[in-house]
Amino acid sequence: MAAGIEAEAFRQKLLAWYDAGRRDLPWRQSTDFYPVWISEVMLQQTRVEAAIPHYLRFLLRFPSLAALAMADEADVLAAWSGLGYYRRARNLHKAARQVAEAGIPRSHGEILALPGAGPYTAAAVASIALGLPHAAVDGNVIRVTSRLSADSEPSESPETRRRLAALADSLLDRARPGDFNQAMMELGATVCTPAGPQCVWCPVSGFCGGYAAGIQASLPVRHARPQSRRRELCLLLLRRKGDGGGDEVFLVRRDSGESRLAGFWEPLPYDAAWGAAPVAANFTHQIVNDRYSVSVREKWHGADSEPTVAGRWFPVADLPLVPLGGIARKAIDAVLAVRPTSLFDTGE
Ligand code: ADE
Repeated sequence: MAAGIEAEAFRQKLLAWYDAGRRDLPWRQSTDFYPVWISEVMLQQTRVEAAIPHYLRFLLRFPSLAALAMADEADVLAAWSGLGYYRRARNLHKAARQVAEAGIPRSHGEILALPGAGPYTAAAVASIALGLPHAAVDGNVIRVTSRLSADSEPSESPETRRRLAALADSLLDRARPGDFNQAMMELGATVCTPAGPQCVWCPVSGFCGGYAAGIQASLPVRHARPQSRRRELCLLLLRRKGDGGGDEVFLVRRDSGESRLAGFWEPLPYDAAWGAAPVAANFTHQIVNDRYSVSVREKWHGADSEPTVAGRWFPVADLPLVPLGGIARKAIDAVLAVRPTSLFDTGE
């Protein structure tokens, strides 16, 4: 018995509920390593609804592990545009090359050794694609297990994490670990939600210590979050009519020395030396703990000269294939009032 929970009865209830009504998500159509792995990397930091169109497009663009391994990094980053956390895409690409060489991993440890795979991803992929008994502990599972065990210690602390992971492990259905893990995530995403858990619909409310004590909505307990840092950013979108008559925009490439967005293209930083340029758009954008207030100025550039900074003119029609970070994408989008990255855009 885990935290007083009768594990076999718990598994039966949870899996019967999952089998009867699980969401028809695109990555649930196959348990092959490649699509499962892509989905789990995408879902590390992206909500299910936002990930779906990216997942479908990514697999159209790179339908197999071999296709991903052979691709140029710039194409992989372009296909990742709009998902953020681009290190995931770089690691995915590196890992694809390793797997193409060494073969599909056969154990949790081999998955964990791939670039970008943490304990969560390794457990999720090992259980879903390889059928191995590893409990995957993401934010949903932390919430579900803290409520089940009425654990009111701060959930970020390593000790609490260990306790909740041990509970998830003791509950895990070893015959159906992939389905069990996804059922726990599904429960957290659809019923045992952060605000207002819907306990009347919960298949396992009878096992829930938080529900019995009436404290479920206040769990898990979190330390106060640090306040977002406010940052100001002023960009300049240079535009011109291209030779063929279509609009072009001038972008500069991030230095490869700067880690997160290295290799990505973006509008120029604006300074007064560019002269008068009206503000064409304002927006805010959150990156982890930084809240950016971005203003984008716009200037038409004459055909008779080139800007004196190193950069490139891109036809607007080509932008879907260019690696653009979230701020650059929003800036171009707002000024052109079209969706320049419509191939890869979720509107996040
Ligand atoms: N979140 C992470 N992995 C998931 C999966 N396989 N299904 C639903 N949500 C998830």
